[in-house]
Amino acid sequence: SVFETVESEVRSYCRAWPVVFERASGSRLYDEQGRPYLDFFAGAGSLNYGHNNPVLKRALLDYLADDGVTHGLDMSTTAKRDFLEAFRSAVLEPRALPYKVMFPGPTGTNAVEAALKLARKVTGRETVVSFTNAFHGMSLGSLAVTGNSAKRAGAGVTLPNATRMPFDHYFDGQVPDFLWFERLLQDPGSGLDHPAAVIVETVQGEGGINVARAEWLRALADLCRRHDMLLIVDDVQMGCGRTGDFFSFEEAGITPDIVTLSKSISGYGLPMALCLFRPELDLWEPGEHNGTFRGNNPAFVTATAALDAYWRDDALRERTLGRAGRVERALLDLCGDDG
Ligand SMILES: Cc1ncc(COP(=O)(O)O)c(C=O)c1O
Repeated sequence: SVFETVESEVRSYCRAWPVVFERASGSRLYDEQGRPYLDFFAGAGSLNYGHNNPVLKRALLDYLADDGVTHGLDMSTTAKRDFLEAFRSAVLEPRALPYKVMFPGPTGTNAVEAALKLARKVTGRETVVSFTNAFHGMSLGSLAVTGNSAKRAGAGVTLPNATRMPFDHYFDGQVPDFLWFERLLQDPGSGLDHPAAVIVETVQGEGGINVARAEWLRALADLCRRHDMLLIVDDVQMGCGRTGDFFSFEEAGITPDIVTLSKSISGYGLPMALCLFRPELDLWEPGEHNGTFRGNNPAFVTATAALDAYWRDDALRERTLGRAGRVERALLDLCGDDG
């Protein structure tokens, strides 16, 4: 087929699903014969509101029919203004989060690169600590803080300025959390340069669905504060309601210094990413971190529609948590465990 003869060997997901998809609606994909498939993968976390969500689709169709700006660099547009206002009133203000919003390039790894660059610029330090089995993206800076050896090998160059620490549950539960990390920080002979930042996923997605406990995240935030390291939460995959709350770190009650979002922020599978940070970290010079596709206005339109439809009250959050409870009970039943 043309996929085998023309498309590169690098293709991956399509090898696992050897059908040709044509349509998608809600939680279903349909192949070209019209056969439905329940889409458990959901765009690797990019389709939290379903394929072609009708509320978002209406907003997008109306915008396109009106000749709304599609490509906008980082120009001020009505679509960007509407998004920023909705993000402030539906997400930031109700959570008392003072973050500034940066639009990096439109993918998750773009947001991670911006976060790492900002942390290094603000602190004047190079080292970033990440965790075993972490995944942060495929560009060189993000790969340096990613665990997977096959993905790292693809870089073809050394991936410097990153140090690994054990994620939650990496040991047997007998070793106190952060014992090793804190000892390295305190010991001037440890060889660990004072890190600029620590980057963490609250739930590791690509690394195998490893869940950090809320108390582990709180202890990490505390460690970062005591040792003057910026805390970056990479919420590219677990943000936008994936774990119930809008941000996956809300349950732990922590406030990271920097947050990355992408995947489901546009709500429609359109490329879009955000890097959020405390205002005092906003030391960027104008244009210092640029990119042609930072102003994907159709994505701003669907993102605004998603915030208005799902994040002005708690209904979606409660539905997600209710369903999580049902899934957990069913899985425990399967294991013959009464919890
Ligand atoms: C936590 C996390 N960060 C970053 C990325 C990279 O995002 P993208 O593939 O859009 O570059 C991913 C992708 O799966 C991710 O799960």
